[in-house]
Amino acid sequence: MSSVKIGIIGGTGLDDPDILAKREEKKVTTPFGDPSDSLVTGEISGTPCVLLARHGRKHTISPSNVNYRANIWALKEEGCTHVLVTTACGSLREEIKPGDLVILDQFIDRTIKRENSFYDGTTNCPVAGICHLQMDLPFCEKTRQILISVCAELGLSHHTKGTTITIEGPRFSTKAESLLFRQWGGHIVNMTTVPEACLAKEAGLCYASIALPTDYDCWRDTGEPVNVALVMKTLEENGEKAKNLLLKAVPAIAKEEWTQTLKDNQVIEPHSIRTLII
Ligand code: ADE
Repeated sequence: MSSVKIGIIGGTGLDDPDILAKREEKKVTTPFGDPSDSLVTGEISGTPCVLLARHGRKHTISPSNVNYRANIWALKEEGCTHVLVTTACGSLREEIKPGDLVILDQFIDRTIKRENSFYDGTTNCPVAGICHLQMDLPFCEKTRQILISVCAELGLSHHTKGTTITIEGPRFSTKAESLLFRQWGGHIVNMTTVPEACLAKEAGLCYASIALPTDYDCWRDTGEPVNVALVMKTLEENGEKAKNLLLKAVPAIAKEEWTQTLKDNQVIEPHSIRTLII
Protein backbone atom coordinates (compact mmCIF):
# COMPACT_ATOMS: atom_id res chain seq x y z
CA MET A 1 0.00 0.00 0.00
CA SER A 2 1.27 3.47 -0.87
CA SER A 3 0.88 6.20 1.69
CA VAL A 4 -1.66 8.85 0.82
CA LYS A 5 -2.71 12.19 2.21
CA ILE A 6 -6.09 13.51 1.17
CA GLY A 7 -6.78 17.20 0.60
CA ILE A 8 -10.45 18.09 0.89
CA ILE A 9 -11.71 21.36 -0.54
CA GLY A 10 -15.15 22.13 0.82
CA GLY A 11 -17.52 24.22 -1.26
CA THR A 12 -20.37 26.45 -0.09
CA GLY A 13 -22.11 24.87 2.90
CA LEU A 14 -19.94 21.76 2.54
CA ASP A 15 -16.83 22.69 4.50
CA ASP A 16 -17.59 21.32 7.98
CA PRO A 17 -14.25 20.71 9.79
CA ASP A 18 -15.98 18.21 12.11
CA ILE A 19 -15.32 15.44 9.61
CA LEU A 20 -11.68 15.41 10.76
CA ALA A 21 -10.41 13.83 13.99
CA LYS A 22 -7.27 15.19 15.73
CA ARG A 23 -7.83 18.59 14.13
CA GLU A 24 -5.11 21.22 14.07
CA GLU A 25 -5.18 24.56 12.36
CA LYS A 26 -2.19 25.57 10.25
CA LYS A 27 -1.73 28.97 8.66
CA VAL A 28 0.35 28.80 5.48
CA THR A 29 1.25 30.97 2.54
CA THR A 30 2.53 30.16 -0.97
CA PRO A 31 4.51 31.84 -3.75
CA PHE A 32 1.10 32.67 -5.25
CA GLY A 33 -0.22 34.32 -2.11
CA ASP A 34 -2.46 33.10 0.69
CA PRO A 35 -4.94 30.25 0.33
CA SER A 36 -8.60 30.89 1.12
CA ASP A 37 -8.13 30.15 4.84
CA SER A 38 -5.95 28.24 7.30
CA LEU A 39 -5.52 24.57 6.52
CA VAL A 40 -7.12 22.18 8.98
CA THR A 41 -5.05 19.03 9.29
CA GLY A 42 -6.37 15.85 10.87
CA GLU A 43 -7.48 12.30 10.13
CA ILE A 44 -10.39 10.33 8.77
CA SER A 45 -10.26 6.68 9.93
CA GLY A 46 -6.53 7.06 10.56
CA THR A 47 -5.75 8.50 7.10
CA PRO A 48 -4.12 11.94 7.13
CA CYS A 49 -6.28 14.66 5.59
CA VAL A 50 -6.07 18.40 5.04
CA LEU A 51 -9.26 20.43 4.85
CA LEU A 52 -9.58 23.80 3.15
CA ALA A 53 -12.73 25.94 2.86
CA ARG A 54 -12.75 27.14 -0.74
CA HIS A 55 -14.55 30.39 0.00
CA GLY A 56 -12.99 30.87 3.44
CA ARG A 57 -14.64 29.61 6.62
CA LYS A 58 -16.77 32.77 6.79
CA HIS A 59 -17.67 32.44 3.12
CA THR A 60 -16.27 35.82 2.19
CA ILE A 61 -14.45 34.94 -1.07
CA SER A 62 -16.42 35.01 -4.33
CA PRO A 63 -15.77 32.30 -6.95
CA SER A 64 -13.79 34.75 -9.12
CA ASN A 65 -11.61 35.84 -6.20
CA VAL A 66 -10.72 32.41 -4.82
CA ASN A 67 -6.92 32.09 -5.05
CA TYR A 68 -7.10 28.68 -6.73
CA ARG A 69 -3.33 28.59 -7.32
CA ALA A 70 -2.54 29.22 -3.66
CA ASN A 71 -5.13 26.63 -2.57
CA ILE A 72 -3.74 23.85 -4.74
CA TRP A 73 -0.12 24.82 -4.10
CA ALA A 74 -0.72 24.78 -0.33
CA LEU A 75 -2.26 21.30 -0.45
CA LYS A 76 0.59 20.00 -2.62
CA GLU A 77 3.17 21.52 -0.29
CA GLU A 78 1.41 19.91 2.65
CA GLY A 79 2.10 16.54 1.01
CA CYS A 80 -1.35 15.74 -0.38
CA THR A 81 -1.52 13.03 -3.02
CA HIS A 82 -5.26 13.38 -3.61
CA VAL A 83 -7.75 16.22 -3.59
CA LEU A 84 -11.45 15.52 -3.13
CA VAL A 85 -13.72 18.51 -3.59
CA THR A 86 -17.37 19.31 -3.11
CA THR A 87 -19.25 21.83 -5.19
CA ALA A 88 -22.81 23.10 -5.06
CA CYS A 89 -24.30 23.33 -8.55
CA GLY A 90 -27.45 23.75 -10.60
CA SER A 91 -28.93 20.83 -12.54
CA LEU A 92 -29.39 21.16 -16.30
CA ARG A 93 -31.21 17.82 -16.62
CA GLU A 94 -34.60 16.71 -15.34
CA GLU A 95 -33.18 13.35 -14.19
CA ILE A 96 -30.45 15.00 -12.07
CA LYS A 97 -32.49 16.00 -9.05
CA PRO A 98 -31.58 18.46 -6.31
CA GLY A 99 -30.02 16.37 -3.52
CA ASP A 100 -28.50 13.79 -5.90
CA LEU A 101 -24.72 13.53 -6.15
CA VAL A 102 -22.82 13.79 -9.45
CA ILE A 103 -19.27 12.45 -9.78
CA LEU A 104 -18.01 14.78 -12.48
CA ASP A 105 -16.03 13.51 -15.47
CA GLN A 106 -15.86 16.55 -17.77
CA PHE A 107 -16.10 20.33 -17.78
CA ILE A 108 -16.76 23.16 -20.20
CA ASP A 109 -14.98 26.36 -19.28
CA ARG A 110 -17.00 29.58 -19.33
CA THR A 111 -14.77 31.45 -16.88
CA ILE A 112 -13.18 34.66 -18.10
CA LYS A 113 -10.93 36.18 -15.44
CA ARG A 114 -9.00 33.56 -13.47
CA GLU A 115 -5.35 32.56 -13.31
CA ASN A 116 -5.51 29.02 -14.66
CA SER A 117 -1.89 27.83 -14.66
CA PHE A 118 1.08 27.81 -12.29
CA TYR A 119 3.25 28.36 -15.34
CA ASP A 120 2.34 31.95 -16.08
CA GLY A 121 5.58 32.74 -17.92
CA THR A 122 6.43 35.75 -15.78
CA THR A 123 9.96 36.21 -14.54
CA ASN A 124 9.14 35.87 -10.84
CA CYS A 125 7.00 32.77 -11.34
CA PRO A 126 8.20 29.88 -9.14
CA VAL A 127 7.85 27.37 -11.99
CA ALA A 128 9.51 27.96 -15.35
CA GLY A 129 8.04 27.80 -18.82
CA ILE A 130 4.56 27.49 -20.22
CA CYS A 131 2.49 24.36 -19.64
CA HIS A 132 0.14 23.11 -22.35
CA LEU A 133 -1.61 20.62 -20.15
CA GLN A 134 -3.32 17.56 -21.61
CA MET A 135 -6.92 17.89 -20.43
CA ASP A 136 -8.98 15.24 -22.26
CA LEU A 137 -9.66 13.58 -18.89
CA PRO A 138 -9.73 16.35 -16.30
CA PHE A 139 -10.49 14.14 -13.26
CA CYS A 140 -8.65 11.16 -11.75
CA GLU A 141 -10.52 8.11 -13.07
CA LYS A 142 -9.35 5.75 -10.31
CA THR A 143 -10.49 8.16 -7.59
CA ARG A 144 -13.78 8.77 -9.41
CA GLN A 145 -14.49 5.03 -9.50
CA ILE A 146 -13.92 4.79 -5.73
CA LEU A 147 -16.37 7.65 -5.12
CA ILE A 148 -18.92 5.93 -7.36
CA SER A 149 -18.54 2.58 -5.53
CA VAL A 150 -18.94 4.27 -2.15
CA CYS A 151 -22.07 6.15 -3.35
CA ALA A 152 -23.53 2.76 -4.35
CA GLU A 153 -22.55 1.16 -1.02
CA LEU A 154 -24.20 3.99 0.90
CA GLY A 155 -27.31 3.82 -1.29
CA LEU A 156 -26.96 7.47 -2.31
CA SER A 157 -28.82 8.58 -5.42
CA HIS A 158 -25.93 9.45 -7.71
CA HIS A 159 -24.78 9.92 -11.31
CA THR A 160 -21.57 8.22 -12.39
CA LYS A 161 -20.58 10.99 -14.79
CA GLY A 162 -21.50 14.51 -15.65
CA THR A 163 -20.23 17.53 -17.53
CA THR A 164 -20.20 20.76 -15.59
CA ILE A 165 -20.34 24.15 -17.24
CA THR A 166 -18.23 26.38 -15.00
CA ILE A 167 -19.44 29.97 -15.26
CA GLU A 168 -17.60 33.02 -13.98
CA GLY A 169 -20.38 34.12 -11.64
CA PRO A 170 -21.04 35.47 -9.13
CA ARG A 171 -24.37 36.03 -10.88
CA PHE A 172 -26.43 33.02 -11.91
CA SER A 173 -27.14 32.32 -15.59
CA THR A 174 -29.84 33.86 -17.76
CA LYS A 175 -32.52 31.55 -19.08
CA ALA A 176 -30.99 31.84 -22.59
CA GLU A 177 -27.58 30.79 -21.21
CA SER A 178 -29.10 27.91 -19.24
CA LEU A 179 -30.88 26.62 -22.38
CA LEU A 180 -27.65 26.99 -24.39
CA PHE A 181 -25.68 25.01 -21.78
CA ARG A 182 -28.22 22.20 -22.13
CA GLN A 183 -27.73 22.21 -25.91
CA TRP A 184 -23.98 21.99 -25.36
CA GLY A 185 -24.46 18.74 -23.45
CA GLY A 186 -23.92 20.15 -19.96
CA HIS A 187 -25.40 18.23 -17.06
CA ILE A 188 -24.78 20.73 -14.30
CA VAL A 189 -23.62 24.34 -13.92
CA ASN A 190 -21.28 25.62 -11.19
CA MET A 191 -18.68 28.33 -10.52
CA THR A 192 -15.49 26.66 -9.28
CA THR A 193 -14.34 23.52 -11.15
CA VAL A 194 -12.21 25.66 -13.45
CA PRO A 195 -9.38 26.41 -12.82
CA GLU A 196 -9.22 24.17 -9.72
CA ALA A 197 -9.17 20.90 -11.70
CA CYS A 198 -6.55 22.25 -14.15
CA LEU A 199 -4.20 23.37 -11.39
CA ALA A 200 -4.59 20.09 -9.50
CA LYS A 201 -3.60 18.25 -12.67
CA GLU A 202 -0.58 20.49 -13.21
CA ALA A 203 0.42 19.69 -9.63
CA GLY A 204 0.19 15.93 -10.26
CA LEU A 205 -2.64 15.42 -7.78
CA CYS A 206 -5.39 12.80 -8.04
CA TYR A 207 -8.37 15.17 -8.16
CA ALA A 208 -12.05 14.23 -8.11
CA SER A 209 -15.19 16.29 -7.61
CA ILE A 210 -18.49 15.55 -5.86
CA ALA A 211 -21.12 17.89 -7.24
CA LEU A 212 -24.30 18.46 -5.26
CA PRO A 213 -27.16 19.92 -7.34
CA THR A 214 -29.17 22.35 -5.25
CA ASP A 215 -31.60 23.62 -7.91
CA TYR A 216 -32.65 23.32 -11.57
CA ASP A 217 -30.86 26.54 -12.56
CA CYS A 218 -33.45 28.47 -14.63
CA TRP A 219 -34.05 26.52 -17.88
CA ARG A 220 -37.40 25.02 -16.86
CA ASP A 221 -40.73 26.74 -17.43
CA THR A 222 -42.04 25.54 -14.07
CA GLY A 223 -40.54 25.56 -10.58
CA GLU A 224 -38.45 28.14 -8.81
CA PRO A 225 -35.48 29.62 -10.71
CA VAL A 226 -32.16 29.38 -8.85
CA ASN A 227 -31.69 31.84 -5.98
CA VAL A 228 -29.44 31.88 -2.91
CA ALA A 229 -32.17 30.87 -0.44
CA LEU A 230 -32.99 27.79 -2.52
CA VAL A 231 -29.30 26.82 -2.77
CA MET A 232 -28.79 27.14 1.01
CA LYS A 233 -32.00 25.23 1.83
CA THR A 234 -31.03 22.26 -0.39
CA LEU A 235 -27.50 22.27 1.04
CA GLU A 236 -28.84 22.18 4.58
CA GLU A 237 -31.08 19.24 3.71
CA ASN A 238 -28.45 17.27 1.74
CA GLY A 239 -24.98 18.34 2.88
CA GLU A 240 -24.73 15.23 5.09
CA LYS A 241 -24.65 13.04 1.97
CA ALA A 242 -21.39 14.57 0.75
CA LYS A 243 -19.97 14.33 4.27
CA ASN A 244 -20.87 10.63 4.58
CA LEU A 245 -19.41 9.95 1.16
CA LEU A 246 -16.11 11.61 2.15
CA LEU A 247 -15.97 9.73 5.46
CA LYS A 248 -16.15 6.40 3.64
CA ALA A 249 -14.23 7.36 0.50
CA VAL A 250 -11.07 8.40 2.37
CA PRO A 251 -10.37 4.95 3.92
CA ALA A 252 -11.37 3.31 0.60
CA ILE A 253 -8.73 5.43 -1.19
CA ALA A 254 -6.14 4.64 1.50
CA LYS A 255 -6.66 0.90 0.93
CA GLU A 256 -5.65 1.11 -2.74
CA GLU A 257 -2.23 1.03 -4.32
CA TRP A 258 -1.37 4.43 -5.87
CA THR A 259 2.34 4.18 -6.67
CA GLN A 260 1.89 3.85 -10.43
CA THR A 261 -0.91 6.44 -10.67
CA LEU A 262 1.14 8.98 -8.75
CA LYS A 263 4.16 8.20 -10.91
CA ASP A 264 2.10 8.69 -14.07
CA ASN A 265 0.85 12.01 -12.70
CA GLN A 266 4.40 13.18 -12.02
CA VAL A 267 5.14 13.75 -15.68
CA ILE A 268 3.00 16.86 -15.51
CA GLU A 269 4.26 18.09 -12.17
CA PRO A 270 5.99 21.48 -11.85
CA HIS A 271 9.62 21.40 -13.04
CA SER A 272 8.92 18.33 -15.19
CA ILE A 273 10.36 17.74 -18.61
CA ARG A 274 6.88 17.96 -20.10
CA THR A 275 6.94 21.69 -19.41
CA LEU A 276 6.99 23.15 -22.87
CA ILE A 277 8.73 26.43 -23.46
CA ILE A 278 7.45 28.13 -26.61
N1 ADE B 1 -24.41 26.76 -7.47
C1 ADE B 1 -25.57 26.28 -7.04
N2 ADE B 1 -26.54 26.43 -8.00
C2 ADE B 1 -25.94 27.00 -9.06
C3 ADE B 1 -26.39 27.40 -10.34
N3 ADE B 1 -27.65 27.21 -10.72
N4 ADE B 1 -25.50 27.99 -11.18
C4 ADE B 1 -24.21 28.16 -10.78
N5 ADE B 1 -23.74 27.81 -9.59
C5 ADE B 1 -24.59 27.23 -8.73
